[in-house]
Amino acid sequence: MKGFLDVVMKLEKIITVVGSLGGAAVDGVLAPKYLDLDIPYSIRNVAATIVHDAMTYYNGNTSSNPLAVGDLQDPYYWWVAGALWGTLLDYYHYTKDPSYNDVVIEALLSPYNLGPNHDFMPPEHASEEGNDDLYFWGSAALSAAERNFPQPDATKPSWLAIGANVFNSLQSRWNTTHCGGGLTWQIYPDNPNGMNYKNSITNGGFFQIAARMARATGNDTYRAWADRAWDWSWDVGLVDHDAWHVYDGTDSANDCAEVNRASYTYTSGVYLYGAAVMANHTGDPRWVDRATNLLAGAAWFFGPYGNATDILYEGACEPADRCNADMETHKAYLARNMWQATWMVPSLRPTVERYMNASAMAAAATCTGGADGHRCGMKWYVGGHDGNVGLGPQMTALEAIQGWLIEDAAPPLRGDAIQTVRDVEWTPVDPYRHDTS
Ligand SMILES: *[C@@H]1O[C@H](CO)[C@@H](O)[C@H](O)[C@H]1NC(C)=O
Ligand SMILES: *[C@@H]1O[C@H](CO)[C@@H](O)[C@H](O)[C@H]1NC(C)=O
Ligand SMILES: *[C@@H]1O[C@H](CO)[C@@H](O)[C@H](O)[C@H]1NC(C)=O
Ligand SMILES: *[C@@H]1O[C@H](CO)[C@@H](O)[C@H](O)[C@H]1NC(C)=O
Ligand SMILES: *[C@@H]1O[C@H](CO)[C@@H](O)[C@H](O)[C@H]1NC(C)=O
Ligand SMILES: *[C@@H]1O[C@H](CO)[C@@H](O)[C@H](O)[C@H]1NC(C)=O
Repeated sequence: MKGFLDVVMKLEKIITVVGSLGGAAVDGVLAPKYLDLDIPYSIRNVAATIVHDAMTYYNGNTSSNPLAVGDLQDPYYWWVAGALWGTLLDYYHYTKDPSYNDVVIEALLSPYNLGPNHDFMPPEHASEEGNDDLYFWGSAALSAAERNFPQPDATKPSWLAIGANVFNSLQSRWNTTHCGGGLTWQIYPDNPNGMNYKNSITNGGFFQIAARMARATGNDTYRAWADRAWDWSWDVGLVDHDAWHVYDGTDSANDCAEVNRASYTYTSGVYLYGAAVMANHTGDPRWVDRATNLLAGAAWFFGPYGNATDILYEGACEPADRCNADMETHKAYLARNMWQATWMVPSLRPTVERYMNASAMAAAATCTGGADGHRCGMKWYVGGHDGNVGLGPQMTALEAIQGWLIEDAAPPLRGDAIQTVRDVEWTPVDPYRHDTS
């Protein structure tokens, strides 16, 4: 903890920048470059700035096209929208700022996203929907369930029931014809590029949904499927048996004989949080070991150069400037899942804090770009803004930075604590106050 005088001086700096960020959704926003991890007020207000700028990429709530509700425009696929609502749910849960909750509720419950069977399989998005999309949208609904986030629409199921629907949809496509099991990336044959590809984001996503449903409900059917999805991922080599890296996928046309060893940050995060949830739910020390090893295996995504110790980077594409709009968001899901794993397995916290200290500070330091001078950049290791702006840079910085508030946020609920009837009254649990204490 810093000395009193130091804190007072920091607050003076905060107050001088208030008002220079016109148009923000909340008062008291702070330019990200002034982030101070020792002051929760600083973290909250930096997060408010970054989330405001992230939402400039969303116009679905002002469009006259009903299909735009909850969706993003090109170059962002529909799955990134599901991931964004997960990030916004985290934003509210950590900061208590309810400014975007109505937008999030409308997005998740729109019939063009939720679909006629309430399982995020909307026919309107079939042309771009894979099994991994269900993970991102389903994960958002489960986060809402685990936090008793309001579900005010009496014609729709509870968040937990929606999570169960997503699980059932994925489980129905588990396929033992090749490779002894697994889910393919794609669902519909008109997306031929992934009908044979059994990949880690899809199978890790199913594993994590099963683990969270098991913990939320105590139902052993989900636990058995989490075990099965993990064992299959391990046996087929998607998770490296020595280094605990997570590789991209394997071809079922070849009976999964070979693994594509490309690797992206987010898949390590998805398996890590699933393993941490299983550790918490089962009390089985093997799951603690797996979560600990997966975190250790993610180390290769931190500190690309000697001048960038512990700074997160997307090694497969950032240094070569080859990240597409999807890949620019991936670091967000490693950061999110690393932070949330500390809820489940507290012994992971020192390592996560070490990485997220360097990474959050470096991310904040990139947020000096764009016409308004506070847009975040993509490469956190260059020591400033790198010339890239976009939704990915905003989401990744946000998840790394706002996670610093996680210790004061309630961990995921379980069992009877989860409301399975709709909460018709909508009242923020802990109204956000822009005080300086
Ligand atoms: C972040 O790391 C710096 C440098 O090691 C350290 O001085 C500071 O206390 C850390 N902050 C937090 C919040 O852990
Ligand atoms: C749309 O959402 C933004 C937040 O991103 C909010 O500020 C604005 O008021 C919303 N507009 C409408 C018409 O709901
Ligand atoms: C499993 O895969 C086989 C071969 O690709 C396919 O013919 C079959 O329809 C699939 N089954 C399910 C349940 O998806
Ligand atoms: C457990 O979940 C499975 C899969 O959704 C379901 O079929 C079963 O009825 C549930 N069991 C109980 C006791 O709720
Ligand atoms: C499970 O998670 C809860 C909530 O964070 C925590 O209080 C508890 O200590 C964890 N249990 C185990 C066995 O790690
Ligand atoms: C660190 O080194 C890399 C590779 O040489 C370089 O691209 C980057 O700009 C450097 N970062 C800083 C903060 O100097």
